[in-house]
Amino acid sequence: MIDVIDLNKSFYLHDKKNKLVVNNNINVHFKQGALIWIFGNSGSGKSTFLNSVTGVHNIDSGIVKIDGFPISDVVDNEKSIYRLNNCGLVFQFFELIKSLNAYANASIPLQLLKKNKRDIEMALNPLFEVFDIEHIKQKKPKELSGGEKQRVAIIRALCTSPRFLFADEITASLDMDMSSFMYGYLRKYIKRKNGVGVFVSHDPVIKNYIDEIYEMKEGKLIRCDG
Ligand SMILES: Nc1ncnc2c1ncn2[C@@H]1O[C@H](COP(=O)(O)OP(=O)(O)OP(=O)(O)O)[C@@H](O)[C@H]1O
Ligand SMILES: [Mg+2]
Repeated sequence: MIDVIDLNKSFYLHDKKNKLVVNNNINVHFKQGALIWIFGNSGSGKSTFLNSVTGVHNIDSGIVKIDGFPISDVVDNEKSIYRLNNCGLVFQFFELIKSLNAYANASIPLQLLKKNKRDIEMALNPLFEVFDIEHIKQKKPKELSGGEKQRVAIIRALCTSPRFLFADEITASLDMDMSSFMYGYLRKYIKRKNGVGVFVSHDPVIKNYIDEIYEMKEGKLIRCDG
């Protein structure tokens, strides 16, 4: 489960004095096994929320617990270790390393976990196969299409078998068939792990694959179903 208590996140404006409040006192509980869909206008604070919850950004105040672990209250190094072992993150703009090929990019979390070559192959090969991009393993990011880069970023997030998945617009560059396949695959994955999947998306295809819907609006996360 994920517990967010009185979460506040703001950014300094250019004058370095005033602040733009982006996540405004958010309280939310995501239960084990749930797939969560967050939608909202561009600039409403959805990506910021994912970064706040996962500790990628330092928050102004509040508490975030993932499976009871107080990720908001530990030092950066502990945050990184917890994330590496328990969370998969897919960033909106992929964040692939230009100088590494697709396979090496996807393997980064496993390299950080000091896995050997054979374990890395066993984790990555089935994912490259299931997402139909086996043929691009040796290509660098600049040689890949948007949808191929997106799938590499998804494989990088999944290769450690995390229980918690935070995915930002993961089907923005995929066609409708691949989007349906991806959400269907990830739904089964989260249910099997009894984890939590938090999906930020503008893609209506996601509707058939989620359990709870929230809108990010004026800094608040508002439950829209049930
Ligand atoms: N690092 C930053 N420094 C300053 N302002 C930021 C920073 N990151 C985001 N913002 C601002 O915070 C607000 C929310 O941005 P965010 O990226 O969370 O929106 P979003 O809901 O994900 O939008 P989109 O749907 O376009 O991806 C925006 O006004 C943005 O300009
Ligand atoms: Mg965003």
